[in-house]
Amino acid sequence: MTRIRLGMVGGGRDAFIGSVHRIAARLDDQFELVAGALSSDPARAKESGQDLGLAADRTYGTYQEMAAAEASRSDGIQAVSVVTPNDTHAAIAKAFLERGIHVICDKPLAVSTQQAAELVRLARQTHRILAVTYNYTGYPMVRQAREMCRAGELGKVRLVHVEYLQDWLANRVELLGSKQAAWRTDPARAGVGGAIGDIGTHAYHLMRFITGLDVTELCAELTSFAEGRRLDDDARILLRLGSGARGMLWASQVATGNENELAIRVYGEQGGLTWRQSDANRLLHSPLDKPSRVITRGSRAAGEAAARVTRIPPGHPEGYLEAFATVYAEIARSIRAAQHAQPAAENVWYPDASDGLDGVRFVEAAVRSSAGHGKWVSLENSAA
Ligand SMILES: NC(=O)c1ccc[n+]([C@@H]2O[C@H](COP(=O)([O-])OP(=O)(O)OC[C@H]3O[C@@H](n4cnc5c(N)ncnc54)[C@H](O)[C@@H]3O)[C@@H](O)[C@H]2O)c1
Repeated sequence: MTRIRLGMVGGGRDAFIGSVHRIAARLDDQFELVAGALSSDPARAKESGQDLGLAADRTYGTYQEMAAAEASRSDGIQAVSVVTPNDTHAAIAKAFLERGIHVICDKPLAVSTQQAAELVRLARQTHRILAVTYNYTGYPMVRQAREMCRAGELGKVRLVHVEYLQDWLANRVELLGSKQAAWRTDPARAGVGGAIGDIGTHAYHLMRFITGLDVTELCAELTSFAEGRRLDDDARILLRLGSGARGMLWASQVATGNENELAIRVYGEQGGLTWRQSDANRLLHSPLDKPSRVITRGSRAAGEAAARVTRIPPGHPEGYLEAFATVYAEIARSIRAAQHAQPAAENVWYPDASDGLDGVRFVEAAVRSSAGHGKWVSLENSAA
């Protein structure tokens, strides 16, 4: 089996998530990075390619050049990772899909539902994979929670509470040279959502991934606490879910003392589940009227869905990078299946273009609700 030839757009010197994608792509030996247009600055793109040992003739100054050149090579890239600021995702994804190249795009998929819906159509039309890296779905204990919810172990779900809290935007670091903060707080680059788009979309997807429930309506209050900031840095949202369940989502980048506190609690008629990224290898299960138990990654108490994405024995912590790599591994399996015109293997889950579209719809609905002083807004969902 040969490795899938991968290209990357963005992720050059001093970029954040590109290097995480490269590690994730390598971890299970399924991909090989062979080409890149790694920066918005062509000279820096070339230097960044040299840093990574890419061949000079496959280190491109622009993604347009890369898409055209790679599509015309017999050994051209089969997939591309898009790890650039949000406003560029749609055009870059389109350039590669149109040339028959699978796309692995970071979230949010696009800056408008119109753009995202167009990408969904294009992926269908070109029969190419368009994956969106909602990477938290790759944790074994998240898979365990999903399996338990969907098998009805909690009974009918009544309540879901999800939060994603950070504090790195507590002050205006965008004015102090943080380029990651600069584009995230600029509506022209980030889109209409600040914290809601940056981390709220992760929380939203995680909740739906685990429970399998759609959000039908929401009521949001988005706030910009840092003086002069144009996008929200905090979002508190009430949710009405399918089947009558109720939920809350809190995403904040000004919650002092929190680094990356992603946590979810689900309560059904027969029991509850709690998972926190800071203790990612453990899942708390509280069956009604019985003692609570902690299910640990790699243990016999964990089910098949968790075991399938577990790499090392219990007790050795697995974390963020492994979870990210699981998303890449499942994309690889799906790309291989597509190459052989086979349906994707059962139990392979990677977030796709429809999930990306739903994330963008969520951001827009939250912004609309908040602008209307927290009026309830209906939400359209892609078919499951
Ligand atoms: N999945 C996650 O957990 C996660 C985490 C962080 C960021 N992200 C997402 O990843 C994306 C990038 O975020 P980041 O924090 O790495 O940003 P960053 O600012 O650190 O890096 C962006 C990179 O893209 C490059 N770039 C910009 N425009 C380009 C273009 N037209 N062609 C080629 N390169 C271009 C920049 O030069 C830079 O190298 C964003 O969409 C963000 O929302 C996702």
